[in-house]
Amino acid sequence: MLMVSEIDVYIHASHILRRLSVEVGAREVVCLVGRNGAGKTTTLRTIMGYLRPRAGSIRFKGAPIHGLATHEIARRGIGFAPEDSGIFADLTVAENIEISTWTRPGGRPAAERLDLAYGVFPVLRRYAARKGPEMSGGERKMLTIARALALDPDMLLLDEPFEGLSPAIIPAVSEGIAQITRLGHAILMAESNIHHVPEFVARLYVIERGEIIYAGKPEDVHGDRAVMRVIGGAA
Ligand SMILES: Nc1ncnc2c1ncn2[C@@H]1O[C@H](COP(=O)(O)OP(=O)(O)OP(=O)(O)O)[C@@H](O)[C@H]1O
Ligand SMILES: [Mg+2]
Repeated sequence: MLMVSEIDVYIHASHILRRLSVEVGAREVVCLVGRNGAGKTTTLRTIMGYLRPRAGSIRFKGAPIHGLATHEIARRGIGFAPEDSGIFADLTVAENIEISTWTRPGGRPAAERLDLAYGVFPVLRRYAARKGPEMSGGERKMLTIARALALDPDMLLLDEPFEGLSPAIIPAVSEGIAQITRLGHAILMAESNIHHVPEFVARLYVIERGEIIYAGKPEDVHGDRAVMRVIGGAA
C-alpha cells in the first residue's frame, strides 16, 4: 500500500534521512521506533508532503506521491495525526472531527465517518461541545486520531500516539488504535519507547540517525543486542 524507497531528506543543510526505506501493506500495522531526534517525525512529514525527498521515491497504492501537495496526499487516502495534536483550539471537539468530512469529501457519507471516529473513542461524544483547551492531553491525543480517522483514510500515520499519556489512559488509546486496525485501515505509527509498541504491531522498523537499522518482527528485536542498546531496552 505504501512504499517508501531509499529516500534522502535534508532540512536546510542537514542530511536527516539517509536512504530510508519503509513499507506498509494493506491492513498492516507497522511501527517506526527510534530515540528522540532519530528522524521519525521527519519520515512521517515527508510521506505527508511537508518535506520533499532529494532522492528516492514514495508510492501509495501504486502511484508516486512524493512531490504532491499535502492536501492531495490526504485526498488520496492518508490521514495524519501529528505529534503535537494540531487541533483547532477555537473549534469544539465535534467541529474538529467534522472538518475532516469537508476536507476529504466523497467515499462514505459524513455521518458514517463521524460514527466511526466516535465509535473508536466514545469519550469524545460526551465532550462534543467542548473546545480544545478544555481537554486533557490524553483526550486531545484521542481527538487528533479521531479527526484523522474521520477522513476515512486507507492508511493512518500516527506520530507518538502514547506520548505524554498517563499509564491509566494508554489502554484506552491502544484499544482505539486496535479497533482502527480491525476496521481494515493500515497504520504506520512512530514511537520512541519500545515498551509502548502494542502487541498487535505486525512489523517493526528501528531508526537511528536517519537510517533504518532493524526491520522485522517486534518479538525478534529483543534478541538483537546492538539494536536494543540503541533504543534503550534490555536485551
Ligand atoms: N525544522 C528543523 N530544522 C533543523 N533541524 C530539524 C528540524 N526539524 C527536525 N530537525 C532535526 O532532524 C532530526 C530528526 O528530527 P525528528 O523530529 O524527525 O526526530 P524524531 O525521531 O521525531 O524525535 P522525537 O522522538 O524527539 O519526536 C533531529 O536531529 C532534529 O534536530
Ligand atoms: Mg518526533
